[in-house]
Amino acid sequence: MEFTEKEIGSEAARLHSKMGTLGWNLQNCQVIAPLTLEINLLKKEKNAVILAHSYQTPDIIYGVADFTGDSYGLSKQAAQTKADVIVFSGVKFMAETAKLLNPNKKVYAPSMDAGCSLADDITADDVRKLKAKHPGAPVVCYVNTTAEVKAESDVCCTSANAKKIIGGMKEKEIIFVPDEFMAINIARETGKKIIAWRSSCVVHKDFDGRKIDAIRKEFPGVKVLTHSECPPLVAEASDMMGGTTDMEKYVAKSDAPSFMLVTECGLSDRLRSEHPKKEFIGMCSLCPYMKKNSLALILDVLREGKKENEIKIPEGVAVKARKSLEKMFELSS
Ligand code: 13P
Ligand code: SF4
Repeated sequence: MEFTEKEIGSEAARLHSKMGTLGWNLQNCQVIAPLTLEINLLKKEKNAVILAHSYQTPDIIYGVADFTGDSYGLSKQAAQTKADVIVFSGVKFMAETAKLLNPNKKVYAPSMDAGCSLADDITADDVRKLKAKHPGAPVVCYVNTTAEVKAESDVCCTSANAKKIIGGMKEKEIIFVPDEFMAINIARETGKKIIAWRSSCVVHKDFDGRKIDAIRKEFPGVKVLTHSECPPLVAEASDMMGGTTDMEKYVAKSDAPSFMLVTECGLSDRLRSEHPKKEFIGMCSLCPYMKKNSLALILDVLREGKKENEIKIPEGVAVKARKSLEKMFELSS
């Protein structure tokens, strides 16, 4: 598609007003403007919606996304959308979740290589074996799992509602898969006995709690917010543990002088842009899976409706997996 100089200039100015504080100069914005212009036109033409996780890069979030948020918020958006086509710029299990909630719509993942160390670490067969070993214990699966694993679970949860769902269960002993650190963190907060699977997030597992003490000395009054996938020592040393939206809400409400977000770097970028007067102290890592997406790949799926990027889930699996998501919505509302 061809755009006039004027169209490119005004799109670049729009992008710069959102991303200038994140180091994107006007020239960089001019380079991506033809891509964001074409994607936004194709969205209208095809009645498509773009859902972007907070860990996506600013050009995706501010350039083309219709909704940005955490896995729970975006799954709610997916459940409510009137669009015919959903492009999920996040990781594959998130696009699968959107497809489970919209079996009759076309759902695309811009990159089919956008996996997740947690989702890739456990199979449906592993869950069946756990159930056989612990009869009577309900299975709660983290949303960071494949549709097959969700199909073997009683209820799904995200970092935004894990505490509420697990804490509210009548059983004392609960199987939780696949994040071991999150299992320990939630067990501490709810007092439940959790039978955990031994997997972790490649991004969050390596954060070091000892650095938090040094940061507190250097930045008096700093609030340390950690994702529930972090090691227990990190979670214990923080002021708040939760999902990415919990962190977002905390920052919006707090009048603390500075914040350290112990999670993927995308969230700090987003909050830095949205709260230019607040200070954010670095302790973040990049998720190699989340960063597989790009404007060029989003444009490809919208232009060509690429079959190889369309999410397909066998009906037998989808029916059972959808139940675990419906149960999550019921228990977290
Ligand atoms: P949220 O649900 O908090 O967005 O987390 C998703 C995720 O993959 C964290 O690593
Ligand atoms: Fe998976 Fe961790 Fe990346 Fe989240 S940050 S998508 S849990 S690998």
